[in-house]
This record gives sequence, structure tokens and C-alpha cells, in this order.
Amino acid sequence: MSGRGRQRFTSENMLMFLRCYRAKLSAWAALCVLVLCWFYVFPVYRLPSDKEIVEEVLRQGEDWQKNQTGIDLYRKLLSECCDPKRMFAVTKENSPVGKVLWYDGEFYYSHTVNNNTYSLFVQENPLQLPLKKCAVVGNGGILRHSKCGRDIDQADFVMRCNLPPISKEYAEDVGTKTHLVTANPSIIEKRFQSLLWSRKYFVDSMKVYGSSYIYMPAFSMRPGTDPSLRAYYTLADSSSNLTMLFANPEFLRTVGKFWKSHGVHARRLSTGLFLVSLALGLCEEVTTYGFWPFSVDLDQRPVSHHYYDNILPYKWFHAMPEEFVQLWHLHKSGTLRVRVGRCAPQEGGS
Ligand SMILES: *[C@@H]1O[C@H](CO)[C@@H](O)[C@H](O)[C@H]1NC(C)=O
Ligand SMILES: *[C@@H]1O[C@H](CO)[C@@H](O)[C@H](O)[C@H]1NC(C)=O
Ligand SMILES: *[C@@H]1O[C@H](CO)[C@@H](O)[C@H](O)[C@H]1NC(C)=O
Repeated sequence: MSGRGRQRFTSENMLMFLRCYRAKLSAWAALCVLVLCWFYVFPVYRLPSDKEIVEEVLRQGEDWQKNQTGIDLYRKLLSECCDPKRMFAVTKENSPVGKVLWYDGEFYYSHTVNNNTYSLFVQENPLQLPLKKCAVVGNGGILRHSKCGRDIDQADFVMRCNLPPISKEYAEDVGTKTHLVTANPSIIEKRFQSLLWSRKYFVDSMKVYGSSYIYMPAFSMRPGTDPSLRAYYTLADSSSNLTMLFANPEFLRTVGKFWKSHGVHARRLSTGLFLVSLALGLCEEVTTYGFWPFSVDLDQRPVSHHYYDNILPYKWFHAMPEEFVQLWHLHKSGTLRVRVGRCAPQEGGS
């Protein structure tokens, strides 16, 4: 739709200018219009450099004060745009048989809910709302040696991204509790051979997440649907304690639009920003850990890409530094808290 709007903008202006000016001037006018259009399509915004961001974070230090006005404002904005309470997952209530689910990661592709898929959906939002203290844990290398595990485990609701390892060796830094974990269908393909062969490894790997919710964007990209459904059946057939929730493509699309209007120009948001949006909509207090898309830490020491490995993602897909700037903005206003350094040892603790 915006593409068509843009086209109309171009041609109407062109016509207007061409009619009003003499031929000699019209070339200049056309040039001006082109420049205007260029700025319309690619607005001039300068992202601070990594160094500037690090300096800014250092300047702010550990100072943080909760701002209830900001928290209430964002909960209101998000419920108006995206209705996370009702819409974050595909449910029997919001997606009855016959409902058309438009894939948010495809140009023009949909799935019409039928008896088979309907039976896989939960009845309605299963979360006990409101959630109190939420921890959204990204997988950034900054978490390594952070000793934030205890802080994270003290939250009432812990969200994690993309089936991260949370074995003993990481517990001190990332904690052990999980209430909701996202799983990208691509990880089912890569790590678990699309579940076409033995499923035991998958079932065993999921046990560390206890009885949490596993949140999969099954209806976002066409190749992701089958692996997601297979993951559902695998869990169901093994009487797993996990509950599968399919991300609602309508929710993902509206959240994407929301951040776009706030200056995040990613082609597709990262899972992390989706989870932060969900948390801002559902929780009374939000703290993020492990969100730090830069290659050096606050002491200028190199950090790995993830706390468990150093494999880089496809470069142009996400706009991580842009997303971080948004988070930092929310941190400064007291709407959520971004932890990037080490977590302080607890009073009276060991
Ligand atoms: C609290 O949040 C509101 C809404 O975002 C903002 O206008 C205000 O400046 C914030 N207050 C402080 C002290 O940052
Ligand atoms: C779907 O299920 C409903 C109720 O169980 C049944 O009435 C209907 O005939 C089914 N439709 C198809 C196409 O199987
Ligand atoms: C599910 O939870 C129960 C109780 O905590 C536990 O005994 C059981 O082994 C768990 N099942 C699986 C498949 O992890």
C-alpha cells in the first residue's frame, strides 16, 4: 500500500512541476522532485556510531529509575496497535476455522485455518496476566561472565530467544529458569534435521526448558510451517511438558509497523525486539539482558556474537544497532531496564 502511495506522490508532483515551469526550469524541477522523493523513501537519519553508543552507555552508568508513566504509556500504545494480550499467539479464539492467516514474512501467501490446524491451537492466551517482573534474555556475548544468572532467575517470567543452551556451564551468567522460549523454524531444520529422522535428540534437548511455552513463528515464512508443525507433533507425541504456541503473523506484522513508526528500519525485526514488545505489553516491569549488538564490551574488550558461540547472522537482515538505540531510549526514560554490564553480587549473598 505504501508503495502505491509513494508512486502517486511521485507522479502527481512531477505533473504539477512540469506544467508550471518552462522547459529550461523543468529539468531542475524534476531533479528537485527526485531528491524530495529520495528523502521520502530513504529519510535522513543518522545512526550514532558504535563508539558513540558505547560512550553514551558508559556515561549513563548503572543509573536507572523506573518511570511508571513511560511503562503505562508503552503498554497503552502497544495494546492499541497490536493487542498483545489477545493476539500474540494463534489461538482457537482469534483464529477459528476458515480464518485466513497472512504470512508476515512473505509477500503474498496465506494459510486458511482448517480442522487439522485448528486442533493444534490453544484455546486462548494461556498466560496468567498481568505478569509482574519479566526478564527478556537475548543471546549476546555480553552475557558471558556477566554473573546475571541469579538476577534473571529472580524474575517472575523469563523469556529467551531461539532455543539457547542453558546448561550448567552457563547457569551463572544466564540463569536456569525459562517460561517462554522462541524457536525459529530454521533451527529445527539445521539442528534437528527438520525432524525428519530421529526425534529423540529434539525431545531430550527440550527438557531443559521444563514446562515453558515454546513460541514458534509457524505462519511467517512458507518453508517454516512444516518444521513447526512437526515440532508440535513431536512434543505432543512425547507427552512433553512444553506447550507450543504459534506466533500470530498479524501480531508480528503490527509490531513491525509499530517499531517502523518509531524509526526502526529493519526488513524484519529481531526475535528480541518482538519479545521486548510482548513484555512491554504484558509485564509490569521489564529488564533485558544480553542485548548488545556490538563487537566490544564497555571495557573495549572483544565480545563474541552469542554467549555460546561466535557465528554471525546474515548481515543485512536485522538492524541490531538501530534496535539497540530504541531499547536504550526506553532505558533512559525508565520504561524498561537494559542490563549490559555485570550484575552486582547480591547483598548478603555469596
Ligand atoms: C517518563 O516517561 C514519559 C513517557 O515516555 C516521558 O515523557 C518522561 O519524560 C519520562 N520521565 C523521565 C524522568 O524520563
Ligand atoms: C470439521 O469439524 C467439525 C466439527 O468437528 C465438523 O462438523 C466438520 O464437518 C469438519 N469439517 C471438515 C471439512 O472435516
Ligand atoms: C514433566 O514434568 C514432570 C513433573 O515435573 C516430570 O516428572 C516429567 O519427567 C516431565 N516430563 C518430561 C517429558 O520432561
